[in-house]
Amino acid sequence: MMAQMRGLFITFEGGEGSGKTTQIKSLSDWIVDRLPSASLCQTREPGGTKEAESIRALLLNGAASKWQPATEAMMMSASRHEHVVHVIRPALENGDIVICDRFSDSTHVYQGYVGGVDQTLLDGLDRLSCQGLVPDLTLLLDLDSHVGLARTYQRGSAERRFEAKGAAFHQRVRQGFLQRAECYPGRIVKIDAARPAIDVTDDVIAAVRRLLAKNGFNVTD
Ligand code: TMP
Repeated sequence: MMAQMRGLFITFEGGEGSGKTTQIKSLSDWIVDRLPSASLCQTREPGGTKEAESIRALLLNGAASKWQPATEAMMMSASRHEHVVHVIRPALENGDIVICDRFSDSTHVYQGYVGGVDQTLLDGLDRLSCQGLVPDLTLLLDLDSHVGLARTYQRGSAERRFEAKGAAFHQRVRQGFLQRAECYPGRIVKIDAARPAIDVTDDVIAAVRRLLAKNGFNVTD
């Protein structure tokens, strides 16, 4: 029998340069401060295990067109399965609060909505890779894609493959996330990420506070 899950699974989603890294850091600091007894697992996709990180390197480097969207979807799912089995599920069974930078919503948006891979097939891949695991809360950082891309160019990250797919691609990514948020209003909380980071953090924390209260966690004030 599968062990009962006692932790909480929180994911961050959004287009390039939407501020996920900053917000994940702020939320992690807040949890350490306000829930000192909680154990925290901070991770990312694609990646999160040594083997999944090697799939990440294949996916995020090189020419923009080097993989078909369906190939990307299968590679993302392969990486996700390793991550779920070896990191996320054990952490949740241990009672951890897991904060993950991207999860399967990204596949449904980048490879599905934008790349044209059938969403029902992606649901099937989710069943295989996630084994029924769905985030308790997804924080969608919503930002104009031009503003987001400009931020990533300033940052000068090495993993440029998706950034290089062009402005129209990234506009579609934003639309795809907004549509997905409409489909899952109970799980996905849309946050306006065009504001100063501190205001975005306030909304992130408010949503997490609601989740913690619903699950009986005591937050110190
Ligand atoms: P990031 O970690 O800097 O957000 O970059 C990861 C990139 O990979 C980003 O461009 C989105 C893309 N991606 C997908 O296309 N599908 C997925 O399922 C995931 C997890 C990421």
